[in-house]
Amino acid sequence: MALTLSKKAMAVKPSSTLAITAKAKEMKANGIDVVGFGAGEPDFNTPENICNAAINALKEGFTKYTPASGTLELRKAICEKFKYNNINYEPNQIIVSNGGKHSLTNVFSAILNPGDEVIIPAPYWLSYPEIVKLADGVPVFIKAGKSQSYKITAKQLEEACTDKTKAFILNSPSNPSGMVYTREELEALADVIVKKDIFVVSDEMYEHLIYGDEEHVSIASLNDEIYKRTITCNGVSKSYSMTGWRIGYTGSSKEVAKVMESVQSHQTSNPNSIAQKAALEALVGSQDSVLAMKKEFEERRDYMTEQINNMKYVSALKPQGAFYVFVDVSETFDKMYKGQKISTVDNLATILIEDFKVAVIACEDFGFNDHIRLSYAISLKNIKKGLDRIEEFLNQLS
Ligand SMILES: Cc1ncc(COP(=O)(O)O)c(C=O)c1O
Repeated sequence: MALTLSKKAMAVKPSSTLAITAKAKEMKANGIDVVGFGAGEPDFNTPENICNAAINALKEGFTKYTPASGTLELRKAICEKFKYNNINYEPNQIIVSNGGKHSLTNVFSAILNPGDEVIIPAPYWLSYPEIVKLADGVPVFIKAGKSQSYKITAKQLEEACTDKTKAFILNSPSNPSGMVYTREELEALADVIVKKDIFVVSDEMYEHLIYGDEEHVSIASLNDEIYKRTITCNGVSKSYSMTGWRIGYTGSSKEVAKVMESVQSHQTSNPNSIAQKAALEALVGSQDSVLAMKKEFEERRDYMTEQINNMKYVSALKPQGAFYVFVDVSETFDKMYKGQKISTVDNLATILIEDFKVAVIACEDFGFNDHIRLSYAISLKNIKKGLDRIEEFLNQLS
């Protein structure tokens, strides 16, 4: 046989968010003054107490294999953390992984058989469909537009279920829309999930980054029936500014956890031992840094949403969580820039980076071909500079 490669692996789309961020970094390295709104990670350092825990782990020689599912002390701490979400898990229901993405990979490897459908509400985080496909699943998209605050309804979920549906992905707060589902909305979705007897993969990665009066509700906490069907995914990456440390975790039924543990034991043995000690400190140590980061994000969010909604041709709902503003740019289509029509969101993003030195994420890969995503995980100074440049571009449209 010729040296052919895996069709499944080759069908995976490269991450466009990482690509634009890399392009902006490259331009910066070449001395170009680019404002990058692509960031998918907080711009704060990992808090000192967390770094110190890792240094101590090294000094104490905590540098060997750990149990595949993570150390017992960390899994116990995660159980305590889940109590704040009103969910009771025991340590053997917890799998610590090498980051949120890895948890999702474990989940879909554990629950999917070839051809099983996974319902993904659009807009969605671009990795979901690719991770599902890699586990032989079939992504099925339901669109939730701006008029419904980018959140799907129970009716839409019910209508999308077929006899092949295995799971539904819920992401609240959402990347990219920043929207948060209310308790009532979750209750209605949970009723459908229980009725259709499917899993819900609840990605709560941005749980701590919720602003104003919104509350985070974990769907697993609603009742025993939904608890059995929920795989709650979380991690330390976004809340504790620990994106490089690679620690994610799940809470699920013992049966699902056991299969994920076996899969992980062969694929990676265990999550990094030092990073596990750091994650433990993140969960049990002072939460002051989370609050400080949240306060700063909230100020940036308020400023950014207001500015965007004062510009012509673009608008955005005020995000309730995460650190992204999801901007509707549909009105720019068919407008002229330098004698050419703006035709697609990619076209718009290319003009912005090339002519105005602003990197934005075109959201085609997030299931919305007329929106861009702007991250506010950059300084207020840069936000101001970048928004001025976007406005300058909009003012040139005719
Ligand atoms: C919604 C969502 N879930 C999970 C992740 C993955 O997090 P991690 O960096 O821990 O893999 C991300 C990262 O962008 C995300 O936006």
